[in-house]
Amino acid sequence: MFELSERMKKIPPYLFAEIDAMKRKKIAEGVKVIDLGIGDPDLPTPRHVVSAMQRAVEKVERQKYPSYEGMLEFRESAADFYRRRKGVKLDPKKEVIALIGSKEGIAHLPLAFVNENDYVLVPDPGYPVYYASTVMAGGRVYYLPLREENDFLPDLDAVPGDIVRKAKILFLNYPNNPTSAVAEREFIRSAIDFCTDNRIILAHDYAYGEIGLDGYRPKSFLEFENAFEVTIEFNSLSKTYNMTGWRIGFACGNEEILKGLLKVKTNVDSGVFEAVQEAAIAALRGDDSIIEENCRIYAERRDVLVEGLRKLGFNVKKPRATFYVWVRVGESSIEFVKRILDGAGIVATPGIGFGPSGEGYVRFAVTRDKEVIAEAVNRLEKLF
Ligand SMILES: Cc1ncc(COP(=O)(O)O)c(C=O)c1O
Repeated sequence: MFELSERMKKIPPYLFAEIDAMKRKKIAEGVKVIDLGIGDPDLPTPRHVVSAMQRAVEKVERQKYPSYEGMLEFRESAADFYRRRKGVKLDPKKEVIALIGSKEGIAHLPLAFVNENDYVLVPDPGYPVYYASTVMAGGRVYYLPLREENDFLPDLDAVPGDIVRKAKILFLNYPNNPTSAVAEREFIRSAIDFCTDNRIILAHDYAYGEIGLDGYRPKSFLEFENAFEVTIEFNSLSKTYNMTGWRIGFACGNEEILKGLLKVKTNVDSGVFEAVQEAAIAALRGDDSIIEENCRIYAERRDVLVEGLRKLGFNVKKPRATFYVWVRVGESSIEFVKRILDGAGIVATPGIGFGPSGEGYVRFAVTRDKEVIAEAVNRLEKLF
């Protein structure tokens, strides 16, 4: 009786929800499922962050409507974090806004800048929200294939001229979900120049910016000369501090782009609960060894999985960032995922869910203990 809008009909069901239904069915059948599907850290939020929240919740002034752009102290702590970790100077009053998780900002950005039939350049495979937010804003998606032979970086020169002229936003995401690829200086430079030359917003999703492994430090795009002219960078406390459930992140960079995004947000949400912002301040101002310890744990788990998969004959590169391992499986990704769920009780994510170029690949998230990952490898050995 109530028909979905044409826009919503263009958006496929959120992939992770479908996988979840398959997983629940398996659990109901009594299978001890090992979930390496969703990118949700199993590690706890740091203790001092939880305590800061507990204290803040008690304060009456924190129980009111927050400001749209976030508490100044939160924005200052984000700016301090960028100075300390990236050597990037941000004006907390103009160049930082709080988000209800980076997903919220990514989802709202096209509404601010995309007109009917404008193009948005979207990496494929990629985080599904770039596609959905473009379609919800009435825009058109132009997919940029990320190919293994190009180290999962898009070829910006291959975008046809008439698409470039109608493009408003280029989404990029490094370290990358789902491929776990990283971007080096030369590519970042060329992406900034491409956007400057063509007056396109460079929307860099930096959600995995602190998940660098073996000492690797993923670059912020804002470290580069002239980046502020075209770039909005989305950052998140979700993965950096194991705070996925808290829903807090921030966007930083070009003031005009942030203002546009904030105009949408003032009409949609009413900011981030200030007690959560206080907890986020404690996280951002806290000891950086927490971040390093997280990364050490992910690297250890990655080694168990990568070595196990190699023994099984998969040709897997060792990721230098993120907690994902992206594996070419040489068959339909959905078939492969169903096979390992049915035969071994292991949940992974089919690459096709991240876009057409994800077909033939499967993503594993090392968001379980290394012993559990070793058990998953054992089960796979028995299955294959
Ligand atoms: C690439 C990427 N961007 C953004 C997000 C959103 O993170 P959050 O909204 O928790 O900040 C995720 C979450 O998985 C992600 O994988």
